[in-house]
Amino acid sequence: FNKSGIFVERTLALIKPDAVHKANEIETILLNQGFTVLQKRRVILTAEQCSDFYSEHYGKKFFPSLVAFMTSGPIVAMVLAKENAVQQWRELIGPTNSTVAKETHSESIRALFGTNEQKNAVHGSDSEVSAEREIRFFFPNCIVEPIPMGQPAKDY
Ligand code: PPS
Repeated sequence: FNKSGIFVERTLALIKPDAVHKANEIETILLNQGFTVLQKRRVILTAEQCSDFYSEHYGKKFFPSLVAFMTSGPIVAMVLAKENAVQQWRELIGPTNSTVAKETHSESIRALFGTNEQKNAVHGSDSEVSAEREIRFFFPNCIVEPIPMGQPAKDY
């Protein structure tokens, strides 16, 4: 909810191992674009955790190399809030393949900080349903649903 009590959408952003050393620059860009950082943590995923996070891609040709890359070093996970955050963040990061992003969306985060389809600097949830699951994955205590009025406080 923003200052006026209006619900503001959330999304999950990851800064991938290839761009963690540029995390401050990336954060400055997203803050300048009107996103708020609600939660942030730096983590090193195990292969098991990473496979779970990317389970929708299990069986694809690139899956083993995706897991190897994403567990090769620390990543930064952030919950971002903004009106229409899921779509807005996807637009700001640009096309999945950074090589394509450099040609078609040269101002995008993947164009500026990524290299190719694997080393593409950042991740963004692809739908509101994915965002809810992915936020819970990295921030299990984060309240995603609004707390109903008049309900006693629960242990979230
Ligand atoms: S798909 O099949 O269209 O759903 O895949 P796509 O959305 O293009 O990519 C899903 C995530 O997998 C990463 N990816 C790769 N990693 C390593 N090697 C190759 N070849 C490769 N191709 C795609 C891609 O960066 C996506 O990561 P996220 O974190 O979701 O952006």
